[in-house]
Amino acid sequence: MSDQLKSGLYAFDLVQKRAKRPAGAPDKQLARKVTKVGVVGAGLMAGQLALLFARRLDVPVVMTDLDQERLDKGVAYVHGEVDKLLGKGRVSQDKANRLKGLVTGSLTKDAFADADFVIEAVFEKMEIKQQVFAEVEAVVSPEAVLATNTSSLSVTEMASRLQHPERVVGFHFFNPVAVLPLLEIIRGEKTDDAALATAFATAKQLKKTAVLCKDAPAFVVNRLLTLFMGEVLAAVEEGTEPEVADRAVSPLGLPMSPLMLLQLVGPAVALHVSETLHEAFPERFAVSPQLAEVVKAGKTQIFAPDFSIDPEVKALLSGGTNPSEESAILDRALRALAREVRVMLDEGVVAEPADIDLCLITGAGWPFHTGGITPYLDRSGVSEAVNGRPFHEGALKAL
Ligand code: 3HC
Repeated sequence: MSDQLKSGLYAFDLVQKRAKRPAGAPDKQLARKVTKVGVVGAGLMAGQLALLFARRLDVPVVMTDLDQERLDKGVAYVHGEVDKLLGKGRVSQDKANRLKGLVTGSLTKDAFADADFVIEAVFEKMEIKQQVFAEVEAVVSPEAVLATNTSSLSVTEMASRLQHPERVVGFHFFNPVAVLPLLEIIRGEKTDDAALATAFATAKQLKKTAVLCKDAPAFVVNRLLTLFMGEVLAAVEEGTEPEVADRAVSPLGLPMSPLMLLQLVGPAVALHVSETLHEAFPERFAVSPQLAEVVKAGKTQIFAPDFSIDPEVKALLSGGTNPSEESAILDRALRALAREVRVMLDEGVVAEPADIDLCLITGAGWPFHTGGITPYLDRSGVSEAVNGRPFHEGALKAL
């Protein structure tokens, strides 16, 4: 019974049991049927969502965007992904034809009139999202659920100008959508049980792991990943070689290094999330000036094709003359996580430490042998050192 095995058993229990009975979900009977889905936007995220909804719900999915070119590109992306599934033998020729028929594009939102679930995946700006929801509300029925895939904005505020704010829920996916099971479901101040139950029922049909989160800045995974990445970026800014800082957290066995994850998420999105968090918690979240420079320079790739760090990005990220040892960087990143998880639990962002771990395992691929993160923080003594107590009082030891 090593610590790793205990954590593995704990993690297995989370994904097999806790994931199936989400803490805080309302009565399933309240869920409304979803027979047609609208996706606002036809970008990369919107395309991934359209494909998932069509594939799992087997209902028509209509995407909208501002111009024909973007719309065509979005629909073509979905068709291309269907062909890839066909090529891998994941769907039959019949199913592939059917999926392509189910996903269509429209330049106007009138096409949403008979949709009962509309999700937006447009630019991360509050006014834009509010405007989009107002336009959708003008054409859909009063019961249609309006879902947002926002990565950090307030769901309550997004709903605040609508006639029916009770129908708005946060429905936050993780990249790559086809691979990562997590869906953070966010209840806004006015969200009613019927809308929330519909969101949970839809998540189940999508075969996703739904975790109920409070409407707090950046919810769970982005809050922790941003914090974690922030410590690595800070070490680089202080003078550590980017390669050294990126390697420092490798003992955790994460599926991707922090800088690789930054590239996957996109520097602009990562910067935006950090700005939201800084605004909410300035004493704990910084906005990296160097990351802002990378975004300003229009850089989207951190790594060159040979996996070396792009020299221009390296120059933009690097700064001071005070490099840190790898072990010190890992330590500061873990301490920051322990502190933040405790704050999140005290704020009631999720019900229990188990939900934080379930989110990190299913939303960011954190490994079973760390149990997500809280069992690792406990056994490495970090929880005790930072918070004066572990997250699991003897529960894992009892396994
Ligand atoms: N789209 C679709 N499928 C993909 C994919 C993509 N972009 N990338 C990988 N896959 C599939 C592969 O096809 C493969 O499927 P197969 O087994 O059916 O062939 C499977 O995923 C595994 O891929 P690989 O073997 O190539 O790669 P890895 O095992 O190294 O896994 C990874 C790749 C899943 C991306 C893994 O590295 C990972 O989980 N990384 C962490 C990602 C993460 O933390 N995401 C969260 C970011 S935060 C976010 O999205 C929120 C937003 O608001 C910012």
